[in-house]
Amino acid sequence: MSEILRTGRAIKLQVCDDDTLGRLAARTVERLVAEKPDAVIGLATGSSPVPLYEALAENKPNLSDVRWFALDEYVGLPAGHPQSYAETIRREVCDPLGLDTARVHLPDVHRPDLAQAAADYENLIRGVGGVDLQVIGLGHNGHLAFNEPGTAFGSRTRVEALADRTRRANARFFPSLADVPTHCVTQGLATILDARRLLLIVRGADKAEILHRALTGPVSPNCPGSVLQLHPDVIAFADPEAAARLMPALAEVQG
Ligand code: GLP
Repeated sequence: MSEILRTGRAIKLQVCDDDTLGRLAARTVERLVAEKPDAVIGLATGSSPVPLYEALAENKPNLSDVRWFALDEYVGLPAGHPQSYAETIRREVCDPLGLDTARVHLPDVHRPDLAQAAADYENLIRGVGGVDLQVIGLGHNGHLAFNEPGTAFGSRTRVEALADRTRRANARFFPSLADVPTHCVTQGLATILDARRLLLIVRGADKAEILHRALTGPVSPNCPGSVLQLHPDVIAFADPEAAARLMPALAEVQG
């Protein structure tokens, strides 16, 4: 295992191909559930965690008592919209893993009072004792969930506007850029940091720069992903393309 050291904490970063990454990340989930069958697990959308979900679907561990919480959801899409995160998670996670959707929670973005819906979601997570393991990706601009650059580290679940860069990145899932929602409800950075363990998965050459910045750059709201350096228990996986900028740092540490 490769390791980089930052701000007195160790982030364990493992660089491997998609298959290995999926298998190892799945093992982290399976170990947790073996110890704590009713674990609370945070789900991320996006393409990066897909190998993890595929490996879990293949291994079929017993996940029937796990409680699941999504990081975020778009605001403004009709219920059942194929690109809503509720539908994405149903399609990419619940169906292949045979999860009961009643155990999978997302912010309720169809309530008239969204601020209250966000606060209720935060309380729901707290009410189950917090998240044991949060799966998380990293956006091109360093966002975590939908916490865009400039977000306070103390932020909690709330309604947010999406950055232009994020809307452009996610336009690939919609007929046109104009169809991409402008707002979302997202867990805050403090909510995410409350998770007892973070499982970061980052893939693709287009993430090399931002992954390097998040893990080795200054800890600053300019790069929300840099907040990971403050968490005591982060397991990170990257493919060789995403880890390309980190390789010299890894080589230095390994000496
Ligand atoms: C979206 C999600 C994030 C995710 C990011 C990166 O904007 N809200 O939670 O981490 O995309 O996704 P990908 O892994 O597809 O690059």
